[in-house]
Amino acid sequence: MTRLQELARRLDARDARIGVIGLGYVGLPLALGFAKAGFRVSGFELDGEKVKALSEGRSYIEDVPSAEIAQAVREGRFAASGDFDGLADCDVINVCVPTPLTKTKDPDVSYIVRAVEDIRKRLRPGQLLILGSTTYPGTTHELFVPILEGTGLQLGVDFAVAFAPERIDPANTKFALRQVPKVVGGETPLCTELASKVYESIFDHVVTVSSSQSAEMVKLLENTFRAINIGLANEVALMCDRLGLDVWEVIDAAATKPYGFMKFEPGPGLGGHCIPVDPSYLSWKMKSLNFSARFIELATEINGHMPEYVAQTVADLLNEDRLAVNGADVLVLGMAYKANVSDLRESPSLDVIRLLSQKGAQVSYHDPHVPEVELQGGTAKSIELSDEALAAADLVVILTNHAAVDYDRVVAKAHRIYDTRNATRNVKEGREKVRKL
Ligand SMILES: NC(=O)c1ccc[n+]([C@@H]2O[C@H](COP(=O)([O-])OP(=O)(O)OC[C@H]3O[C@@H](n4cnc5c(N)ncnc54)[C@H](O)[C@@H]3O)[C@@H](O)[C@H]2O)c1
Repeated sequence: MTRLQELARRLDARDARIGVIGLGYVGLPLALGFAKAGFRVSGFELDGEKVKALSEGRSYIEDVPSAEIAQAVREGRFAASGDFDGLADCDVINVCVPTPLTKTKDPDVSYIVRAVEDIRKRLRPGQLLILGSTTYPGTTHELFVPILEGTGLQLGVDFAVAFAPERIDPANTKFALRQVPKVVGGETPLCTELASKVYESIFDHVVTVSSSQSAEMVKLLENTFRAINIGLANEVALMCDRLGLDVWEVIDAAATKPYGFMKFEPGPGLGGHCIPVDPSYLSWKMKSLNFSARFIELATEINGHMPEYVAQTVADLLNEDRLAVNGADVLVLGMAYKANVSDLRESPSLDVIRLLSQKGAQVSYHDPHVPEVELQGGTAKSIELSDEALAAADLVVILTNHAAVDYDRVVAKAHRIYDTRNATRNVKEGREKVRKL
């Protein structure tokens, strides 16, 4: 029996040890999923605070209950560490590290390189390595595998490699981890088979594609599809503004068509680690092949302009009230990039606040999920959403539609409201005070 055949047998028996590098929004739920399926799981994380929290049974991710972490730790099925030597003991290693953009908006694969270097130093026959970080087509084949082959061990014979994109959607309570099909593409048919076996233990459906490049492209198609359709919704919002129409009414009515239409909503701009970033991975790769990804460029331009459009509309609304932006008291509702999460990554609220502050506005904010935030002028704290604070603001700007906020009260107490999320859609009284995106 070869070492990889032996791995297949151990996976069937759930006797294999699973490693996860990077215990963030993606890696932690995955690690817990394997632990709950009965595997022994080792998590590897650079951030010492996260390692400490997990070792003490504390979760730092809203969707992951501390009680489940504590139980897995107690039962010896999950341990987090900053010591990467334990990688040698893992039969399967999932890499879930960040893939941001550089300042010049090019892919920053340095986190992947660091993780794979850590694996290379401990690589041994019989291991399966799976990259889960979103990245451009070819990363697994052209970057990940060559580093591992530098050991002299042979891909597909001594060790296996696959790409399996993540589809985690923070704060989505509709779908549990296992209900969302998992896509897998291996470097060889055996690699695909082994990676499928791993994921069949924690996902109801595993979808295989013919290569790691194809699996990488699947993820980029999914996120590019979203970015482009949000771009369309944003442009339709700008068109409706010129036409004097309510974009939300138009979109809601169009969405009653039972086929051939999918609802996307406009907003103050794109946020999160994925949608604003991932399409640039694809356009960067295509540029290297002398191909211009025009849809991506256009959507990036439209979506990227939304915070400026929102800031300009704030100025126009203040102007209607004979007020200047300079010195105006603006209360922002929502700092996180989307409803009911605390994630600030790429949040358009940060851009809108920066633009308004640059023009001299006195901006305060309320966000039940974000008690404080680092802004250019220092740390800002979420204020209490008191009746007095609402009444004192020259303008209340809703940038995130958190469910915990009472929008009836916001509209009742505020002098004027600019709602970029249609959060006030069910408010009955005082609608004349609300200007919608
Ligand atoms: N957040 C999402 O909703 C989501 C969804 C699908 C895919 N993804 C993709 O998954 C990947 C991870 O995203 P995330 O949201 O989990 O990021 P994250 O920042 O929440 O977590 C990444 C973790 O990896 C750690 N880390 C970085 N380099 C490391 C290294 N070399 N060794 C060990 N730990 C390291 C960081 O400290 C961090 O805790 C990205 O490629 C992202 O695009 C994210």
